[in-house]
Amino acid sequence: MSAVVHPNSKPARPALPLPQIQALAAPDMAAIDALIRRRLASDVVLINQIAEHIVSAGGKRLRPMLVALAGRACGGDAGAEHHQLAAIIEFIHTSTLLHDDVVDESDLRRGRSTANALWGNAPSVLVGDFLYSRSFQLMVELDRMEVMRILADTTNRIAEGEVLQLLHVHNPDTDEAAYLRVIERKTAVLFAAGTQLGALASGVDAATQRKLYDYGMYLGYAFQIADDVLDYAADAADLGKNLGDDLAEGKATLPLIHAMAHSDEAVRARLRGIVENGDAGAMPEVLAAIRATGGLDYSRRRAFEYAAAAEGALDGLPDSEALAALRGLARYAVERTH
Ligand code: IPE
Ligand code: IPE
Ligand code: MG
Ligand code: MG
Repeated sequence: MSAVVHPNSKPARPALPLPQIQALAAPDMAAIDALIRRRLASDVVLINQIAEHIVSAGGKRLRPMLVALAGRACGGDAGAEHHQLAAIIEFIHTSTLLHDDVVDESDLRRGRSTANALWGNAPSVLVGDFLYSRSFQLMVELDRMEVMRILADTTNRIAEGEVLQLLHVHNPDTDEAAYLRVIERKTAVLFAAGTQLGALASGVDAATQRKLYDYGMYLGYAFQIADDVLDYAADAADLGKNLGDDLAEGKATLPLIHAMAHSDEAVRARLRGIVENGDAGAMPEVLAAIRATGGLDYSRRRAFEYAAAAEGALDGLPDSEALAALRGLARYAVERTH
């Protein structure tokens, strides 16, 4: 991607690598984590057990980090409002994970048995609802209609995305356009809301909020495509999730969509049958077809294109360490191994 050169401006500092990003965000993340812990509490013991189980396993905390860094890149000191917004975004994310693992019948998450594997589906769904509604309590405390509008629209879109995805399960006609429509809603809109809200809390104008929104949206696409590649190609221990979950449930993601579109007639028919039946045992065969058609490289390329678009959306913002960190996170989203 060619860099935009502004007259009389120094060249922008290079994208930061992850350790430096984490160091930069560390004070914010400590405050956000403390807030998440404090606001997780309920006097219903089972809620605490399940919520603690998934929250203390950590996760990358990428979304809340993005809220804080977006706020800082917009000139604000990330303060209490940013931290509250970051906790809200992480609560929403965590609640979707609890629900997602039930829907996907997954038994490993963040290197631990999933809540559904340990406690069953009903408690997982209900504690997911608890976290969802807790996030709305935190929102109301901020008492800003604009914030509530963005988050209400976002959670509604996520729910649409999850249902849309359900409609495509076992459907071998799912193509790239349909896949992109699903990942926009189930994943990218939450990233976009997070970075937009970080900007909004720093008091920037609508045009600047829009840049951060676009950055988050493109990043979200890149992140989900990378996740879908990892489901085929990661080191299982490193990933902290089981590989092959998508195939097992008959979910056609980009590597497989690419293979179905580019295989010869016989292999295509075979792949379609596997999607229709959700055959986890067919993994070696599916991987061979994906490799033969370059499906992983193609998907990685698409992810890199979205990551580059995310970086491009930041053009015109004043240079800062936080901005370099946002650029670095766009790269991390697609280079990560877990
Ligand atoms: C998992 O998100 C769900 C997707 C959108 C792919 P993360 O990979 O950010 O999960 P954690 O929070 O780090 O565990
Ligand atoms: C992400 O899709 C779903 C959410 C937005 C929660 P996946 O089903 O691929 O996520 P993982 O791989 O289980 O984390
Ligand atoms: Mg899943
Ligand atoms: Mg996945």
